[in-house]
Amino acid sequence: MTVQPMEMPGIGTAWLITGYEEARAALTDPRFSRDDRKAPEWLHQHAEQHRIDSSLGRNMLDCDPPEHTRLRQVVKKAFTPRRIEALRPRVQQITDDLLDAMSGHDEVDLIEALAFPLPVTVICELLGLPAADHADFRAWTAGLIQSDDRELTRTSGKALRAYFENRIAGIELDDLPEDEQPDLTRALLRASGDEGRLTREELIDMLMLLLIAGHETTVNLVGNAVVTLLGNPDQLALLRSEPALVPQAIEELLRLDGPLNAALPRITQADVEVSGVTIPAGNMVSIVISVANRDPETFDDPHRVDVTRTDTQHLAFGHGIHFCLGSALARLEAQVAIGGLVARFPELSLATTDLQWRPNPMIRGLVSLPVRTGTR
Ligand code: HEM
Repeated sequence: MTVQPMEMPGIGTAWLITGYEEARAALTDPRFSRDDRKAPEWLHQHAEQHRIDSSLGRNMLDCDPPEHTRLRQVVKKAFTPRRIEALRPRVQQITDDLLDAMSGHDEVDLIEALAFPLPVTVICELLGLPAADHADFRAWTAGLIQSDDRELTRTSGKALRAYFENRIAGIELDDLPEDEQPDLTRALLRASGDEGRLTREELIDMLMLLLIAGHETTVNLVGNAVVTLLGNPDQLALLRSEPALVPQAIEELLRLDGPLNAALPRITQADVEVSGVTIPAGNMVSIVISVANRDPETFDDPHRVDVTRTDTQHLAFGHGIHFCLGSALARLEAQVAIGGLVARFPELSLATTDLQWRPNPMIRGLVSLPVRTGTR
């Protein structure tokens, strides 16, 4: 069954879409909305309450066109494959420094040593935020994302919002020399000010979204990828002998073990028939990309890791209008990190058989990843 209703106690029915073709079609079908204002009242209230608790307002991920189109348009130029490719030398340099620091240590936690600092440094540089503030961002983002503790969600969200408000208040747009490329915060501030394309609230919401998305995803992609490769020595050996396979391998690792367990939520705006099943209008739908990515109808031998696989049209970054804005950046970081790690540490091995996975059901990622570097 690729579509089925699931009774959620106290909530009602959510329809799970788990087939690849069905998931892909739903993600491009405007009858499936991302906007909770079009949801049943209780669900809308729940989403509003979460926004209030987290201080994270409505951003592009919570809207349908035309609002979504306007918000995405303002920022999308900064994330085109060309703009991101231009960051490669810097991403390489940050990675090389992190790998240098690992060398000579018998055992390291790869999350702390590489998977976390790389994407955080990159997103902070893109946004023009000082490295000295990384630890605060990490704590606030963790409080926002990982916590069932409502009070912690509130204090973390408030702190992050206040941080961006202060930061923006301190920026003088005129200070920047004409010939210098502004960081993303300045570029967005300009779009919200003179150009009137974004309200001040929307600007802060967008900065918060980018910082959180830039924090919580690539970290886990790199961590999960390393575990999968170390558990499949033949694939790791293949990758070592043919480094040109790295981009393809990253796609396979995204397909098999992407960082999001979460089902992508949607609300039907009309009765919709999916695979002969009618989902009534106004119903909750969960598009379960991690299952769709292992659909045997689409992927040959779907549970096998194969870094030479060419049928890797996975849905790990979603699909359609909400397709991940940061996908080119996440791909670049993962390719450079995994490529560098594999080349530099031929003896790399797991230092524990007891890996701790994060308890958050939305995110598939490790608490820590102790490895032996084999360099001492
Ligand atoms: C949207 C996954 C990294 C920014 C999405 C969606 C997915 C996703 C599945 C679509 C959600 C939906 O349709 O309901 C991932 C994964 C990543 C990653 C697996 C890393 C491996 C990033 C990074 C950034 C980012 C590094 C930014 C710096 C965004 C934004 C959206 C988004 C802004 C909303 C796009 C829209 O609504 O139009 N991401 N993401 N992501 N992602 Fe990512």
